[in-house]
Amino acid sequence: MYLGIDLGTSAVKTVLVDGAQRVIASESRPLTTVSPQSGYYEQDPAQWIDATFATLDALKASHAGELSAVEGIGLSGQMHGATLLDASLRPLRPCILWNDGRSAAECLILEQRWPALRATSGNKAMPGFTAPKLLWIATHEPDIFAATKLVLLPKAYLRLVLSGEAIEDVSDASGSLWLDAARRDWSDAALAATGLSRDHMPRLVEGCAPATTLRAELARRWGMTRQPVIAGGAGDNPAGAVGIGAIGPGTAFISLGTSGALMAPTSRIAANPDRAVHTFCHAIPAMWIQAGAILSAASCLAWLARLFGVGEAELLAPLGARPQAPSPVSFLPYLAGERTPHDDPAVRGMLDGLSHGTDRGTIVQAVLEGVAFALADCRDALADAGIAIAEADVIGGGSRSPFWLSVLANVLNVPVHRFVGGETGAAFGAARLGRLAVTGEAIAAVCTRPERIETFEPDAELVDTYAGRLPAWRELYRPRH
Ligand code: XUL
Repeated sequence: MYLGIDLGTSAVKTVLVDGAQRVIASESRPLTTVSPQSGYYEQDPAQWIDATFATLDALKASHAGELSAVEGIGLSGQMHGATLLDASLRPLRPCILWNDGRSAAECLILEQRWPALRATSGNKAMPGFTAPKLLWIATHEPDIFAATKLVLLPKAYLRLVLSGEAIEDVSDASGSLWLDAARRDWSDAALAATGLSRDHMPRLVEGCAPATTLRAELARRWGMTRQPVIAGGAGDNPAGAVGIGAIGPGTAFISLGTSGALMAPTSRIAANPDRAVHTFCHAIPAMWIQAGAILSAASCLAWLARLFGVGEAELLAPLGARPQAPSPVSFLPYLAGERTPHDDPAVRGMLDGLSHGTDRGTIVQAVLEGVAFALADCRDALADAGIAIAEADVIGGGSRSPFWLSVLANVLNVPVHRFVGGETGAAFGAARLGRLAVTGEAIAAVCTRPERIETFEPDAELVDTYAGRLPAWRELYRPRH
């Protein structure tokens, strides 16, 4: 038995997976994000721990026998967040999250201080990443900066509580800007540019390697007969890749979670920092992921559901299975600013083309299309780096909507596939990493492709219509910085 724990943004999801890779049980507990100002996003690390423990306590109540047999645990997590710990390893302040845009000025300073940043990390300095957040803290909260002894990404903090050890995997670490992406090791120069050193960083391991073990008292609490091994794990996007067997070149996929991404696993770094393409180490050795990342995807639908006071399923139901024609309304999904391709934390969303005839369905469709157009921008940014996308698998909560997947197939002009269990992809991928850390099996034997439920083929006429709409949609963007 293996556990996969995904510390997401909207929830902690824990899955219990057996030796035949069947999900035996899953539990989820919601998380709250606080926004002290527009563009600022924070979470209290204590609630990650409470939520994780609640999922495991619930699994103990419902599946005590299976839980007692857990041998390996994999962690997946929202990437980039800065969790600052004092000398007693207690959080000094709320974690500043991946979608927080406060450190735009510090990004410019960082790139000036360390001109090799793009060549070494494969990334542009963007406010979502961890390093500029530390420069912001140094300027705006100097006492906290001075008291900071350890900087952890969210899931490394969870691992610290679970095991007592500060360890990070290279995929999540590559979203910090402190990693030398080719060497898969911390860059001393990058750390020095933010006034830090290796002493402030956790030890690094590969995602599928054994990192540590669960504390004995926690293993007892959950009735486990042994102290399970905890694997390196992965950032949520690389973990999602492992979950759907996207481990080799040519296995591009789209994630429609709170954020969105178009990701392409590669056997060499093919960076394009000028267009805000992200370079991550993959969760398996000697592979990388080039990604276009957008800050709001399924969260746009959640926003609309709040606005109309109905559930997301109710919003989507009237749309049917496939679009007949594009919505007359256009939507920019920049509710939290945008990364690829604009790197503009200050830009905000937009609905354009409203009329007396606009009904709720027209707006819902526009929102789904706006996210798809943003992913078309990601596709083009990846193409500039020489990465062509021939087809794409879709994971994350948004993959439940056939209408949305059909829009994506037509906007991106590629076949789009949906999987069994695609919406819990990252937690399942984490469980696979937990298994690999215990068994040392061949990666390809474990990271197989799950069963596809459905393929959405592009329709030539709709492809042309959407392609015709894309330039006007792009025109709506006005830089705010
Ligand atoms: C990726 C990114 C998000 C977070 C939260 O660069 O910022 O996908 O990992 O899911």
